[in-house]
Amino acid sequence: MRSDIERLLFDGPAIHKRLDEMAAQITADYSDRELTVIAILTGSLMFMSDLLRRIPLPLKLDCLSVVSYHGKTQPSGEIIFKQLAVPDVADRDVLILDDILDTGHTLAAVRKKLETAKPLSIRICVLLRKRKQRARDVDADYVGFEIDDEFVVGYGLDFMERYRNLPYVGVLRKELLEQPNQ
Ligand code: IMP
Ligand code: MG
Repeated sequence: MRSDIERLLFDGPAIHKRLDEMAAQITADYSDRELTVIAILTGSLMFMSDLLRRIPLPLKLDCLSVVSYHGKTQPSGEIIFKQLAVPDVADRDVLILDDILDTGHTLAAVRKKLETAKPLSIRICVLLRKRKQRARDVDADYVGFEIDDEFVVGYGLDFMERYRNLPYVGVLRKELLEQPNQ
């Protein structure tokens, strides 16, 4: 799999060091409140599990499964929720976790859905944020790393459901993106 990666961006130790800092910030910000974390699957799986183990606060965890890419690299803009029910976040301080903020369609749709349940507050935390113009008006309150507008995989991020298990984040070789569905 390493040969499919054009350039390594963040190795395991670099990610973990940054997660220590993010977790310390979140722990300080929510020290007197009880968090409800809503993680967006599947991409945030590694991020969620490594980040939350660094946050020594009482918190509740729920996951939302959404599909936004339909197996390709270009977002359609349409977000499909796999569960119909909205998590019960009434009067809760919500922290949404996702792997990456790209066009903003996913996080805008998730935030809108959660707002219907009348939480006390909503913040957004992502491992990666792409430097680009977003299609939707949404930003993250906590960001692990800012990256260029390139397609990355690893540490939960996939291309056609592959590469999620890489322990690092890297840029996928361009010619692999151009191959027809397989
Ligand atoms: P957005 O809705 O365009 O902001 O994209 C959010 C979702 O698209 C993320 O949760 C990822 O699943 C996926 N995504 C966006 N950019 C990348 C990438 O560079 N690599 C892998 N997945 C990505
Ligand atoms: Mg994905």
